[in-house]
Amino acid sequence: MTSKFSWAAFPRPIIALSPMADMTDSPFCRIVKEIGAAVVFREMVSSEAIFRENEKTWGMAAFDDVERPIIQQIFGNDPEVMAEAAAKIMEKFSPDGIDINMGCPVYKMVSNFNGACLMKDPPLAAKIVRAVCSAVNVPVSVKIRLGWSRPDECLEFVKILEDAGAALITIHGRTRTQNYSGVSDWEMIGRARAQVKIPVLANGDINTPEKVWAALAATGAAGVLIARGALGNPWIFKQARELLTHGRVLTQPDIFAKRRVILRHAELHVAHYGPGGIVSFRKHLSWYFKGLAKARDLRNQAVRVTSLAEVGKVLEAAQKLST
Ligand SMILES: Cc1cc2nc3c(=O)[nH]c(=O)nc-3n(C[C@H](O)[C@H](O)[C@H](O)COP(=O)(O)O)c2cc1C
Repeated sequence: MTSKFSWAAFPRPIIALSPMADMTDSPFCRIVKEIGAAVVFREMVSSEAIFRENEKTWGMAAFDDVERPIIQQIFGNDPEVMAEAAAKIMEKFSPDGIDINMGCPVYKMVSNFNGACLMKDPPLAAKIVRAVCSAVNVPVSVKIRLGWSRPDECLEFVKILEDAGAALITIHGRTRTQNYSGVSDWEMIGRARAQVKIPVLANGDINTPEKVWAALAATGAAGVLIARGALGNPWIFKQARELLTHGRVLTQPDIFAKRRVILRHAELHVAHYGPGGIVSFRKHLSWYFKGLAKARDLRNQAVRVTSLAEVGKVLEAAQKLST
């Protein structure tokens, strides 16, 4: 199925789930989509691995139709391999868009000239965007940081990406050197946004409905990508929309509502990964307990669950503590 997805036509503001390795998999994207994200960005996959048709990587890119519109992110540094990988992903799964990772700061990525390292080589970055654009018939977007070491590097870089054919750019308001320290510089995102005609999404430290509103106001961006603020909190998308539309947040899930969603997430997770998948669900369960009474005790229990039944028991304990 080829979708008619278009960033230019998509309703504003775009409030979307940011890609997170090991977190924004199919079960979590489904949960987030059911509750209210406009668009989900699937975790990054290696273009080399897709090129070689690695089974595990194929599994990471698979999705259910209810997750649409869904954008698959790829990383790599070879324009031909990335173009071929994007074409293969389109042929097999047909996501609504392809996103290129030019922002990841982790050593394993940048030491292989992937992720944020591409900001150091604008001609190569442009070549990658052009190659991927010509290989697929869906919008190609790029996710970047403010720069490698200087926060104003993005001001020129966004123009280069736009000229190369990018349909949308997401900017995380930190440099690679900053990694996750300091605060996301929304003002600089706003300055970069003004350099291009294509839509720009703001990202970084947007973790409450109020911050969605503030980031949109500060940047003039077409929307936001929410990452850590969505972990254990898939309600944030609906709440942000409510705040923007009604001036207040109407949905405050209590522990009963949370319990239903968490159980459904656990069931989807185990259905996707098999019974052993409960181990990789523990990290999500821990996030759901953030901020609850006795969160530390609950998290200690969360990291030990070995079955869906045990997830149910920890949730019962959480409910008793909160009522
Ligand atoms: C666990 C984790 C995994 C991440 N994986 C990716 C990824 O696969 N691709 C990407 O572009 N960014 C990735 N990021 C960065 C986030 O998408 C986002 O840019 C960053 O966390 C800042 O947004 P936030 O303040 O809303 O968390 C990851 C972040 C975290 C915390």
